[in-house]
Amino acid sequence: MTILIVGSGGREHALAWALSRSGDHSLICAPGNPAMAEIGNLFPVKVSDIDGLVNLAVKEKIDLVVVGPEVPLVAGLADELRRKGIPCFGPGRDAAKLEGSKWFAKEIMESAGVPTARGKVFSDMASAMKYIGEDACRYVLKVDGLAAGKGVFLPDDSVEAGSILEELFAGRSGGSGVQVVIEERLKGREVSILAICSGEECIILPPSRDHKRLGEGDTGPNTGGMGAVCPPPEVEDDFGEIVRARIILPVLSELASRGIDYRGVLYAGLMVTDDGPIVLEFNVRFGDPETQAVLPLVADDLGEIFMSAATGGALPEHLALLDGFCSCVVMASGGYPGTYEKGLTITGLDKIEDAVVFHAGTAMDNGRLVTGGGRVLSVASMGVTLEDSLDRTYRELEKINFKGKYYRRDIGRTV
Ligand code: AMP
Ligand code: GLY
Repeated sequence: MTILIVGSGGREHALAWALSRSGDHSLICAPGNPAMAEIGNLFPVKVSDIDGLVNLAVKEKIDLVVVGPEVPLVAGLADELRRKGIPCFGPGRDAAKLEGSKWFAKEIMESAGVPTARGKVFSDMASAMKYIGEDACRYVLKVDGLAAGKGVFLPDDSVEAGSILEELFAGRSGGSGVQVVIEERLKGREVSILAICSGEECIILPPSRDHKRLGEGDTGPNTGGMGAVCPPPEVEDDFGEIVRARIILPVLSELASRGIDYRGVLYAGLMVTDDGPIVLEFNVRFGDPETQAVLPLVADDLGEIFMSAATGGALPEHLALLDGFCSCVVMASGGYPGTYEKGLTITGLDKIEDAVVFHAGTAMDNGRLVTGGGRVLSVASMGVTLEDSLDRTYRELEKINFKGKYYRRDIGRTV
């Protein structure tokens, strides 16, 4: 098959890497990154350029489009491709609202009877502050729109809540809407589940855990994700099955009852509490960096499975998986998720022996590999035990250098 991968981050590099080793596929990427250029041809079409991507898929006679990021899905890329008869692994605009609007996701979960944190939506400062009262640390504030993982806030007190809300309602802190969802703060362990969905059927990938906070010990601001492990060691073998039955299938069937045929990945961000898994968020695409930790453990040809899902076909009952654990640690630019310098030389990649290095924010500058984004690289290794895998990942990662590099040293070692 000829497969077009849309995106340019670590997740898309991991998808390209997995597809290139799993089957006899030829890959093209838009826009891709310097490392993806070694796997497939790159075309400089932006992920937000829906017409450009559709034209590229037609011109290159693409058999299957695999979409990495949420932005083109929310903008209707999958609908436009399907209109042209091109299979797309990624849901249409209507389903992408599950990620594009936290409030829509809550409504779907309520109708489907899926456990989620209680929440209310607000569009003005005064009623939001009244609702919070003096109990800010019992709530989580979420921008009701796309915010690249940076639209969720856990204030310590009402003064902090007030200043966050002021920023949000003024539309200054990212996010596309001026509505804010305030939901109860849950306690437990976080686990991410990625489900490959074809209509009302799905297949669950192994569970993983992302570490979203910037600082060690899960402190500091939320980021797009600083590292991930797969599977989290304490998660029981039947966890995926429980999430499938209690969460993914009811949501797919609720969507189907509204005429929405879901074809792509549904990502459930879960809090595992004493009452079982509760949904914190849905994403309508693979997680980043979860994908970099999950895909190395998959032994099946994902190209065939994605194609089946994209065309509403049957999915295999189980995935063939490798034994062991995989961990992935993100190397970020100093200053991320705030402002940071770009164009800094990256060295040491030629010394990597025992890990896969997925590129995210990298660029070429006169033949030199340089930094070009906040999350620059993610380094992933497998091991028989999680400790084994983490030792290898950190040993390899330390060989890589760029000025101001930042990574968490406790990925997989805290919950
Ligand atoms: P989200 O993008 O909605 O997954 O939120 C980002 C992060 O904020 C999550 O990974 C959690 O660490 C935290 N979070 C979100 N919602 C809640 C909640 N209801 N209770 C506790 N933590 C939450
Ligand atoms: N790792 C979190 C996300 O992809 O949204």
